Amino acid sequence: MRDKQKAVRVGIVGLGTVGGGAFRLLSENADEIARRTGRPIVVSHVGARRDNPQCLTGSVRVSRDVFDVVHDPDIDIIVEVMGGTTTAREVVTQAILQGKHVVTANKALLAEHGNEIFALAEKQGVYVAFEAAVAGGVPIIKVLREGLAANRIEWLAGIINGTGNYIMTEMLEKGRDFYEVLKEAQSLGYAEADPSFDVEGTDAAHKLTILASLAFGIPLQFKKVYTEGITRLTAEDVAYASELGYHIKHLGIARRTQQGIELRVHPTLIPEARLISNVHGVKNAVLVVSHPVGPTLYYGAGAGAGPTASAIVADLVDVARAMAEGAGSRVPHLAFQPDALDDTRVLAMDEVCTAYYLRLQANDRPGVLAEVTRILSQHGISIEAILQKAAHAAGRVPVILLTKVVQEAAMNAAIAEIEALEDILDHVVRIRLENLDA
Ligand code: HSE
Repeated sequence: MRDKQKAVRVGIVGLGTVGGGAFRLLSENADEIARRTGRPIVVSHVGARRDNPQCLTGSVRVSRDVFDVVHDPDIDIIVEVMGGTTTAREVVTQAILQGKHVVTANKALLAEHGNEIFALAEKQGVYVAFEAAVAGGVPIIKVLREGLAANRIEWLAGIINGTGNYIMTEMLEKGRDFYEVLKEAQSLGYAEADPSFDVEGTDAAHKLTILASLAFGIPLQFKKVYTEGITRLTAEDVAYASELGYHIKHLGIARRTQQGIELRVHPTLIPEARLISNVHGVKNAVLVVSHPVGPTLYYGAGAGAGPTASAIVADLVDVARAMAEGAGSRVPHLAFQPDALDDTRVLAMDEVCTAYYLRLQANDRPGVLAEVTRILSQHGISIEAILQKAAHAAGRVPVILLTKVVQEAAMNAAIAEIEALEDILDHVVRIRLENLDA
């Protein structure tokens, strides 16, 4: 009966790790997918500039010009998995204008141009689905858009870049070389085409932009995300943090405050007892605190062919089902109705309040620590813990301080004064600290 129903015809644009994974999954799990969808989903056209030896396309039509797929009148849904924001933007725009639905894994495209893309899709009555854009195989988009639809979301914090978490785990916790681990992440298909997006935090900022819109009902505002990567983290800080009972993780944080919304990506100390503190390797996790449900945590593989294909195919099933319904009954792209998005202000990083880990290199002389604590106290900064280590060669003493929550502007001013002290050598290392208690 099911086999006699008309198949949904899919065109895949891009046949790299993700496109190849989706192609294979649609074939491997074809029966199960058809049982869930009520009709088969078949790939009938692939657009790829080159072949992928990991993905044999058999008798499926392959075009070198990706726009041949977009303009193929037999295609119902375009899966855009080529990445980037130039040709991919044109592919998605053209597909929407042709009345085709789109499934995309492209977080950069949505974070930077999503407002226009969704507006165009709504006008054309088509759907743009993007579960694979954030946290790989973890269905966090569905959670925020549907599962938590009854809640007021207060904040979320996530490890949302698998490559970065993999590098931090292997390099900082196992002592391996940065470039060796990065190369491995590339060969496993985790890293972005430009891996600086992973290690400088841009990829996490793209994903946080999307999560914050879904959580708070605000437009996508990538340019307002404060972004710091992992390249300056040292094994020394990881070890000191651990002595104090914390792990360092690269987090994306979005929080609703009375003054506005915080959007920030940076390395963060987290108490080691928190579940999210123990998320290692390529795994991602997103902690969402909302009312009335309280804290909920979502965990799984954040990158790689299989997990990302899982999200893409889930979207295909959703879109295929929705094709049978009217456009009015669809879940809105950004969770809230398009005319109900808020223009709540996004805070500048200076206005954000958080606790801090500071590491200073001080000359081993009486009174230096007293000077430092005087400056902190003048800026209203309370100290939570102090750790002074034995002097290095040349009489340098590493001093580690944990502070209570303070506004970033006050901390910036205090750090500038501390760095100006004659007995403080080098820059002060500052890593933000979040207790993540709900
Ligand atoms: N480069 C990304 C990551 C791929 O490592 O998380 C998944 O979005």
